[in-house]
Amino acid sequence: MSVTQNKPIRYDYTRMMAGAVGAAHGVAAAELKRFAKKAAQSARAVQSLYDSGQLPFMDLPAKTRQAADIARYAERCKQYENFVALGIGGSALGTIALQSALNPAFYNLMPAAGRGGRPRLFVEDNVDPDRIANLLEVIDPRKTLFNVISKSGSTAETMAGFMVARDAVARRVGVKNLKKHFVATTDKEQGHLRKIVDREGWDSFVVPDGVGGRFSVLTPVGLLPAAAVGIDILALLKGAAAMKRRCSGDSLESNPALLAAALQFLACTTKDKSINVMMPYSQGLRDVADWYRQLWAESLGKAVNRAGQTVHAGQTPVKALGATDQHSQVQLYNEGPNDKTVTLMRVESFRNPLPIPPCHSDIGAIAYLGGRTMQELMQAECRATEKALTDHGRPNSCFIFPAVNAHTVGQIMFLLEMQTAYAGEMWDINAYDQPGVEAGKIATYALMGRPGYEKQAEAIRKSEAALKPLVI
Ligand code: PA5
Repeated sequence: MSVTQNKPIRYDYTRMMAGAVGAAHGVAAAELKRFAKKAAQSARAVQSLYDSGQLPFMDLPAKTRQAADIARYAERCKQYENFVALGIGGSALGTIALQSALNPAFYNLMPAAGRGGRPRLFVEDNVDPDRIANLLEVIDPRKTLFNVISKSGSTAETMAGFMVARDAVARRVGVKNLKKHFVATTDKEQGHLRKIVDREGWDSFVVPDGVGGRFSVLTPVGLLPAAAVGIDILALLKGAAAMKRRCSGDSLESNPALLAAALQFLACTTKDKSINVMMPYSQGLRDVADWYRQLWAESLGKAVNRAGQTVHAGQTPVKALGATDQHSQVQLYNEGPNDKTVTLMRVESFRNPLPIPPCHSDIGAIAYLGGRTMQELMQAECRATEKALTDHGRPNSCFIFPAVNAHTVGQIMFLLEMQTAYAGEMWDINAYDQPGVEAGKIATYALMGRPGYEKQAEAIRKSEAALKPLVI
């Protein structure tokens, strides 16, 4: 185990403050102090939701017995060459984030021995027909386990993917042998997927009651695929548990999730920072930013507050990647509209610092890189962006990772979930529903002819007919 394994993530918010980026765009220290009371109320509101059993996602870090069962099941997955996760939104993004952060970048291209005999992982979270068809060309269904992940058990995208996969498997192994190739993660008793599981005798795992998709990465939704590809899910939970302890108080001085929520809330509501960019300087953390994008967007983007008033709350999350997007987005972040906060992620110790071998000593403009490491270059690029943003009066902060490992990824995911929960209280909205997502699901069911949705289909046809097409 590396010495950085269990070290805490740190949150550097120096450059969110007026002292660094100026009073027009940064939060004044006095303002933050005044906000402490409201922040404490928000923390207590989250705690009381938790105490009354309404936030079961906060219990997940302690579910180590269940994780041990999942890890045992994952050992059995070694008999397959491929593990295909079929899910969408909260039923896929956590898995993608864990795989990118914690396994080698080209894991799927490594020989089986390099993968510890574990299957390759494919996460199919779209209905693009060309992609699915291509996947079925490159994997052998006889050597594949499909994990159908859907809390509701009826999401059209996931169930359609399942039906295509089912047919491909049935044609190769026969309908009788189907169940060896499917494992479900779904509600314990509700939903159509559960019906199929019961009828066909599949193995299955449960999405616990009250845990919404975007808060479900530490349930079997994320843990089963992660364990199947060798990720240390117990360390992940340990990291989350360590962060839970840090995020439990109601003081801005000691609770990093509360502080981060307060700063984003103040930046948005008092400095017009309606965009929240997350920019890891680590390729592996790129999909953690993508996972966070859903968490922040779906939780906070709400039409009405708890009192029923129209508020259209939320801050638009944007994912960027350092250093790549320094050559794509950072021009805008520095000189475009000053409507963003940028949250960087910096890694102190990469798994492989990768020395840059000296060469071309006669060309000073590149020779200076020789003898340094790629790690140093990545860190310098992050500092450079921090400096440039600050010089341009752009509020920014940084999560500092001692290293990227299961413990620190568990920490950051739990921190961001708590940050979202606190921000929900600050905006005074329900951070745990998603009526806007449900509306899209219902319209899809109607358009695809699901029984029971005829009225909605008719309403869609009427409203489409009422619009004069403007197409060139
Ligand atoms: O966060 C959410 O609730 C959504 O993104 C869901 O995860 C997504 O719509 C998939 O739903 P389900 O797991 O029911 O198929």
